[in-house]
Amino acid sequence: MTSATDPNKRITQLRTTIRKHDHAYYVLDNPTISDSEYDALFKELNALEVAHPELITKDSPTQRVGGAPIDAFVKVPHELPMLSLDNTFDDQEVEAFDQRIKKVLGSHSELEYVAEPKLDGIALSILYQDGVLVRIATRGDGRTGEEITAQGKTIGSIPQVLLAGSNYPPLLEVRGEAFMTLEGFQRFNDEARANGEKVFANPRNAAAGSLRQLDPRITAKRPLSFSVHGLGAFTPGSLADTHAERLEQFKHWGLPVSAEIRTVQGVQGCLEYARQLALRRDQLPYEIDGVVYKVNSMAFQERLGFVSRAPRWAVAYKYPASEQLTRVLSVDVQVGRTGALTPVARLEPVMVAGVTVTNATLHNFQELQRKDVRIGDQVSVRRAGDVIPEVVRVVFDERPEGATQIPLPSRCPICDSPAIQPEGEVIIRCSGGLVCPSQLKEAVKHFASRRAMNIDGLGDKLVNLLLDKGKIRDIADLYRLEKPALLPLERMGDKSAENLINAIRKSRQTTLARFLFSLGIREVGQTTARNLARHFKSLEALMAASMEDLEGTPDVGPVAATNIRRFFLEESNRKVVQDLRNLGVQWPDVAEQPPPSESTSPFTGKTVVLTGSLTNMTRSEARARLEALGAKVSGSVSKRTGFVVAGEKAGSKLTKAESLGVAILDEEAFMALLSGRTTEVRSDSIQIQPSLF
Ligand code: IVH
Repeated sequence: MTSATDPNKRITQLRTTIRKHDHAYYVLDNPTISDSEYDALFKELNALEVAHPELITKDSPTQRVGGAPIDAFVKVPHELPMLSLDNTFDDQEVEAFDQRIKKVLGSHSELEYVAEPKLDGIALSILYQDGVLVRIATRGDGRTGEEITAQGKTIGSIPQVLLAGSNYPPLLEVRGEAFMTLEGFQRFNDEARANGEKVFANPRNAAAGSLRQLDPRITAKRPLSFSVHGLGAFTPGSLADTHAERLEQFKHWGLPVSAEIRTVQGVQGCLEYARQLALRRDQLPYEIDGVVYKVNSMAFQERLGFVSRAPRWAVAYKYPASEQLTRVLSVDVQVGRTGALTPVARLEPVMVAGVTVTNATLHNFQELQRKDVRIGDQVSVRRAGDVIPEVVRVVFDERPEGATQIPLPSRCPICDSPAIQPEGEVIIRCSGGLVCPSQLKEAVKHFASRRAMNIDGLGDKLVNLLLDKGKIRDIADLYRLEKPALLPLERMGDKSAENLINAIRKSRQTTLARFLFSLGIREVGQTTARNLARHFKSLEALMAASMEDLEGTPDVGPVAATNIRRFFLEESNRKVVQDLRNLGVQWPDVAEQPPPSESTSPFTGKTVVLTGSLTNMTRSEARARLEALGAKVSGSVSKRTGFVVAGEKAGSKLTKAESLGVAILDEEAFMALLSGRTTEVRSDSIQIQPSLF
């Protein structure tokens, strides 16, 4: 029988293939097939298992998700206790730690340490028997934890089966941290907030709350990750003699290990690692609360042993907390581009994770009421990564007498138009539209922003100034600006005025997609704008479109369709659009710009690495576009990498590409190649064919 006809064989084949792709996607962050190809494999396996239920095994990829809810968590003892770490807070304390160890070991030379990020998550123990995951447990009190196998199995980066052919011990208990990425956390909370549901105070609570769901199907929907940092019980024999080498072994067995871990020499190496990582703390995709130093040699670790609940061979070095207490001085209401009224707490200045915070968002009035924040309250404030600082909670025990409640707004604080709260919506909005100076300011800022018309040098402050001084009254007025009108403005020299006029002039040449996005129609983000441009091909066709036509566009639902129609039916909007076109805003016909076919794209058949952030699209969009052109998108740079696309804040991948001589594209060059505006590439730079510009 061939595998095509033998379901057992095919099932085994599919499981192996899917596991390989899971590893590439979740652990290596380097998928080798598209989502749709993966889905097809998964569907095929599922269908075969439905037809042959007797062939279903616990470790099948289909069994990750959808286990039945449990009644309660079962307590399980840890074979070896799950210990904690002692903390240090400054360089002297780390030096004392190093001295202590050297003394015990009687060593005068520098010790080798492994320095690791201290992930702020939930410690888990994962047990493999003969390479198959058999149990996942929480730390609990260190001696006894709770079994959460069904919940933990839904985390994609935890392999259900160790990679075949590798020499793992028959019994292997790894330990590590389950966590939620900042992006996942924000997405989850944003959604919960929009639906008026419970939000989590921080990613750590979100990870804990997600794992504590009795129904694993709920856990499966939460964006959780995992990273191994140590070992529990194991059958002796095949494990290496240093911690660093053991981590390498874990990687070979398909387990996820942080890419930030380094082997360092002596205490100076430790301190330097902490300094370097602290500089990048804001850019890491997850939250860390410090770093951990571990003696690398296992022989030394054994000699050092433990003191009460912590090992003597390891220590945590804690960074300043990302949450601090301060007092609410007042609450202002900000008016966003779409009129959303957002309460913002003005705070007594406080240092949070190294930055002085004076304002923090309360997100919306429903949340303000739920948290019951009043003026004068002591509150806990949080900032992490690039996320806007937010008020997490009130310290009710510290509430002063006479703390003032904040009333719901009935009018816009800027233009005095009535505030409205559409049925079923959480957000209260100003009904003033572009009559509201605040909405107008935000609309102009959006119009000028990089992803929209990309007017270089027209930042938020300048937009405020232009509107406040009456130099412009709408977006079309930008194209009527002349140099003499700008010169009297604060800090506006001859040269900067000229640069601004030139940048505005240059922005007239745009694309239909950018133009549509820049209009700031609610629910029309970059992707929708692109789909609309592709679907309707001209502004005239879009402006004349019926609801049906609009809803026939990919990604456009009834809400977006209604907003688009409303926008173009409004006389003042039609006038601004017409003015913009009369003033020279133009774009090439969409029809004349077919997307480059696979064979003509310089990306076809190449491996491309994306690093840093792009302004024109998200990373997953960039990945999808590249894959559509037949490129392979990879997570790490090697000599075989065809291109590295370096966005803003590109990091070590860019440095590596430079050292290997790999072709590097900045965002502009990348966009040009994607759109097919240029096809010629040299290995050291990209060439743009001048005739196309
Ligand atoms: S080692 C015996 N390494 O921090 C060694 N722990 O404050 C125990 N943690 O319970 C842990 N990142 O949950 C270690 N790279 C790392 C860590 C780490 C986070 C957590 C772990 C532990 C807690 C101690």
